[in-house]
Amino acid sequence: MMSRSSTMLILLASLFRSPGNWALEIGDNLCVQGYIMDKFCIDSVNMIDTGRETLKEPFEHSVHCLVDTPICYNSEFEVLTDPTTTSDADARYTRGYRLTETSKQLVIDLARSVGSCATCVKGYDSDVEFGFRAVLNATVLALSTDGGEGPPLIMAHNQAFPNPSDNDPCQTVFGLTEGTVMFNNPNVTSDDGTNEGTADSEATSMLSFASSQFVHGLLITILGLYMS
Ligand SMILES: *[C@@H]1O[C@H](CO)[C@@H](O)[C@H](O)[C@H]1NC(C)=O
Ligand SMILES: *[C@@H]1O[C@H](CO)[C@@H](O)[C@H](O)[C@H]1NC(C)=O
Repeated sequence: MMSRSSTMLILLASLFRSPGNWALEIGDNLCVQGYIMDKFCIDSVNMIDTGRETLKEPFEHSVHCLVDTPICYNSEFEVLTDPTTTSDADARYTRGYRLTETSKQLVIDLARSVGSCATCVKGYDSDVEFGFRAVLNATVLALSTDGGEGPPLIMAHNQAFPNPSDNDPCQTVFGLTEGTVMFNNPNVTSDDGTNEGTADSEATSMLSFASSQFVHGLLITILGLYMS
């Protein structure tokens, strides 16, 4: 018979493994969904297209900016998870997951297949103009980097554009519970994380952070010169 304390521990462990991503392990398979954001605009704090704060109003980010603009689509992509409360106007979105380079390309293709942009299948003839979201069935390849700042790295197995009015696309699209680990694939090792994609090692992401800060500074300077 299980003791009370071990039951308690199991209960606690199961609590901790859903849905907060800080308890994830390499090889975990789960469904995630949210706004897709480029790391350039995350690092810049404000989005370059609208000037709005990236983690506050990701729904204002244009598909055009995300997938037509090299400075954005050449940076890493992340999935932003929704604030837990909708009543707080100041609530921020969370940097939930980083996408591998391959998964980023899949998500870019998805955005172009439904969105409104220069490189989109329908050109600008789509009403999906801002706040592109995706729902992904994915596996964790690596945990946080940047001293905990960079969220876990995931690789998507399946991805879809959720109906914008659907508030539980993990369930609708994949029959899965958002953020809950379905199983752990013991074959996945952390090496898979560093081998996939270009910007996955800590050194590279530090570098891209530094260069994006530099470009951002440059843009601001040019803008300043232009306006004066
Ligand atoms: C999610 O991906 C895993 C691969 O890791 C696969 O085994 C599973 O069938 C997928 N689930 C769905 C609902 O697509
Ligand atoms: C792990 O690898 C073994 C051997 O290649 C394979 O038989 C097994 O199905 C794999 N497990 C998963 C969950 O992919």
